[in-house]
Parts: sequence; structure tokens; C-alpha cells
Amino acid sequence: MGSSHYTSFASITATLIFTLSLMCFLPELAVAKHKGITRHYKFNIKMQNVTRLCQTKSIVTVNGQFPGPRIIAREGDRVVIKVVNHVSHNVTLHWHGVRQLRSGWADGPAYVTQCPIQTGQSYVYNFTIIGQRGTLFWHAHISWLRATLYGPIVILPKKNVPYPFSKPYKEVPIVFGEWWNADTEAVINQATQTGLAPNLSDAYTINGLTGPLYNCSSKDTFKLKVKPGKTYLLRLINAALNDELFFSIANHTLTVVEADAIYVKPFKTDTVLITPGQTTNVLVNTKHHHFPTANFLMAARPYATITAIDNSTTAGILEYEQPLTSKNKIKKLLLFKPTLPIINDTTFTANFAKKHRSLATTQFPVKVPQKVDKKFFFTVGLGLSPCSKNQQCQGPNNTRLAAAINNVSFVQPTTALLQAHFFNQSQGVYTTDFPTNPPSLFNYTGTPPTNIMVTSGTKVVALPFNTTVEVVMQDTSILGAESHPLHLHGFNFFVVGLGFGNFDPKKDPSKFNLVDPMERNTVGVPSGGWVAIRFLADNPGVWFMHCHLEVHTSWGLKMAWVVMDGKLPRQKLPPPPSDLPKC
Ligand code: C2O
Repeated sequence: MGSSHYTSFASITATLIFTLSLMCFLPELAVAKHKGITRHYKFNIKMQNVTRLCQTKSIVTVNGQFPGPRIIAREGDRVVIKVVNHVSHNVTLHWHGVRQLRSGWADGPAYVTQCPIQTGQSYVYNFTIIGQRGTLFWHAHISWLRATLYGPIVILPKKNVPYPFSKPYKEVPIVFGEWWNADTEAVINQATQTGLAPNLSDAYTINGLTGPLYNCSSKDTFKLKVKPGKTYLLRLINAALNDELFFSIANHTLTVVEADAIYVKPFKTDTVLITPGQTTNVLVNTKHHHFPTANFLMAARPYATITAIDNSTTAGILEYEQPLTSKNKIKKLLLFKPTLPIINDTTFTANFAKKHRSLATTQFPVKVPQKVDKKFFFTVGLGLSPCSKNQQCQGPNNTRLAAAINNVSFVQPTTALLQAHFFNQSQGVYTTDFPTNPPSLFNYTGTPPTNIMVTSGTKVVALPFNTTVEVVMQDTSILGAESHPLHLHGFNFFVVGLGFGNFDPKKDPSKFNLVDPMERNTVGVPSGGWVAIRFLADNPGVWFMHCHLEVHTSWGLKMAWVVMDGKLPRQKLPPPPSDLPKC
């Protein structure tokens, strides 16, 4: 997969061991149903010098690779990843979008499902991929370490099960990232100190490479060499910290076929919008004749409604292989550039989101809850919080920037929520009084109220097993309306409605799509608008939900759902593995 350039970065070093032990001990069981295999990976967390934009810095990596190694599995396979921490930072890894059915101990968010893996320690993440196929990704889930600790997860359909679209000639991961010349841990630490917004990144990357539009960068350009008249499947992943990205390839149309490891009804577009935390597969048909005299830029740059962002553009190059007959190299190649929407094109983003529809076939049915047991209305947005004692904050009147859901800015505990829950030791760790509705009603997308101080706490929502849940997430205009890519761990949800302005509980629900809504794990709450999601709480454990803009997560735009065990044995969370890290 991929051009040689990329392959060298992400060539899989992990060994694949086909576990046949199951076959030996339980032959009838193995043959009868589960044909999945176990795939073993070893991830050594280690420092590595990397040079970009003419500056060399030491970054945290997996096995010295940047981006990190690719995980490949088939639907139904078990994946076992031994993570050994050789760096001075505490580390956890998260398998973003993997449902983790009854394997919540392997989910990874620090202080939510586990204590971090400390220096010199290791932890084995062990989970089975059930009912998912497509592209996901893994990333660090502690502080800002995911700036450099990330890599693709490729989930192929079960053996001999075809894609619901024609088989692509080649599959290529395209991972977007964000590059800082500075040390990102220093960036977020400084912001926490001052209470102000963290410094912006210096560049975006495609497969770790910044591309020709930055200074001192052309040699670090991702090149996709293609043959004419073929179909390529690009596995797009946005692993950037803080920026939603538009992506387009000059003179080539993209057909979206999957998002967040769920197939969609295929649709064509010149540009995709991909938020941090989202993944999507697109097909690209190459032109039928050779283009030896032209190259095509593939470019990504942010969508944003605020101005304090890194508005630079990363680019890679799609180039047609030279036909063998034309040995005389053409010197000057024409370069076509894509036209991307304007930076704050919110209309494009809403229309693009609405184009996503589930397949809704007998093979891939839509299991959207038609009835809802519990309804929640969450405001999501920014605010201010008081400066902590012995601290000088530089926000207005000695405050610091904060973000909240229903005005609660989440405080990270010092022990893992899942352990506290499992061992019935929640006292002093979390409370189950997370508000169902905002504490006060106001014109959410109009003029903000005068008091924009948030409260803080480690609050969760407790849900009985198999509760059907609806959450309407409403952006606020406090300190500026902004899109918030909300990500839910442990579940896929259905995006049943989306609109601008304030959600109208009388009129809007009648317009919900309960027929073929998109199923995903990360959805953008529109800037100055709302989104309605539904999910079935069929996975016991503690599940983080947060804005996937890391700066907003740092400011507290996060909460957790505690899903209780069901009555049956297969509805219960098993005990933690013996190597679960201690705090
Ligand atoms: Cu991609 Cu909680 O994360």
C-alpha cells in the first residue's frame, strides 16, 4: 500500500503471529464461528530526532517512526499491542473509534479508563474489532502527546467479504497532522500557566511531511505515484490537534464511501472536510491517459470561524508514473492546484455533513434508536474560570480561558474513573450529577450573557445498561461561536439532526432522520448551531466524550458516561488485566 515514500515511514515492524492455540484447544468452536486471528504488535515509546522546516527536534514516537506504525486487522480479529514506555513522559494510547465492546480497560484515555504507563513500565492493550471495517487511527491520550504519537488503523472486511464498492487498485493512508517547531508539552504547559490560548502550530503535515508550500520544506513532500485509469482508495485521517481541515486534489473528484469505519452511500465531492478525530475513505479515479507533463497538488488547510489559527497549507503531489516509452525526462512539469473553500465556509461544512447517509441495506442495517429513554441537552462552548490560588492569570480580571459542557468544566481526576467505578470507589473521585440541561437558559447563539464564568467538577452521567440516549449538542457564542468536533468513546452514534441557531425542541425533532442517518464517532457541532445524536448504551464501562480540538479538551470541554453492567454475564465488564498501570 502507498508509494514507496510513505511505506518506508510506516512499514510494519510488528510481527504478525497467527495464534493457532485456539484451534488446538477448542477446535470445534474455532471452526464453527470465529475465524478472526490474533495480531500482535510491539510499540516501543521512544524519542527520535526529526527534522522539519530546517529545524531538528526530539519527538516522542512509536518505534522511532513518524507517523507511527500502521495497525492492520480484519473485522473480527483480536489485536494485542504491547506498549513499553522508554521516555520520561507518562503515556497512554487510545484506539480511536474502536468500539471496545466489554474491553474498556484497553480504551486508553488517561485518568478515565487507566492510569498512565509510567517510564520503564509497559501495558498490553488487548481488544477485538467487532462490526467495524474501514479506517480508524490510534493516538496518545494524555496531555498533548498525540501531536507526534499517532498512526493509522486499517480494518479490512472479513476474509472473502468484498467492499460494497468496486475493489480499488491500491489503498493509501493519508494522515493529516500538525507540526510545531516548539515542544508541544511546553506549549500546553505555558498556556495552562498563563490562562491564555496556547501558541499555534507552524505547519500541517501529510503523512508526517509538511510539503512544498512552507519554507525549507519541499524535500519533505508526500508523493502519490499513480497509474492512469485506476481507482485508488485513500484512507484519510485527521490526526491534527486543533484544526479541522479541507482537503482536495487538483482536477480529481473524490467519492466518499466510508466515514469513521462505517460505509456510507457513496457521494462525489471536490473537497472533503475532516475534523480532528474523523477518518474517511475516498475513491479517486485517475485519468485515462498519461499525464507526463503535469503534476497535481493535493492540499489541506483549515476550516475555522476564529482568526487565531495556523492558516497555512500543507500539500502533497499526485503524479502519474512516466510511461516506459518516454525515457526523455520532461524538465518543467505543469502544476495544477486545487481550489479549497474559503477558510470560514460554514455552509460548505454543514452541506458536506448532511451528504453522509448510512448504507441502510440488509447487510448493513441502521440500528438507530427509534425510541429514546433519556434525553440530554448539552451546551458546548468556551467561558472563563477563576485563576487557581498562587497563580497569576492573564485572562480578563485574572481569569483563565475555559471550556465547558452545560457550564461544567471537567476536572481530570488523579486516579482512573473506570477503576473507581469497577471497584465501587467513586467517592472522592467523581459524582453522578452531570447536568441533563444547561443551568440557565439564554440565547445560546445570540449575545452572550454577562456572566460567562464556568463551574468545574468531575461529573459523569450514569446510564443503566441498554439505555437509548439522545443528546442535542448546542454550540454557544460565548467568546466566539466555533465548530466543536465532539467525540464519543465506546460507541458509534447516529447523527439524526443538525442545524443553525438555537435548537427548537418543538419543531426540530420532527425533521430528524431516523431512516438512514450517518453513524460515526466524531461529529462537528456546527459553529453557531446544533447537532442531535442518538446511541444505545450497550457497552458497560466508563466512556469519555470530549471535543477533539485538543486545546478545548485541555480547557475542560469533556465529560464521561458510566454505563452500568447488564444482568447477563455477557453484559458485564470483565475485571481489569493484571498489568493495568497504577497511578
Ligand atoms: Cu481521539 Cu478521546 O480521542
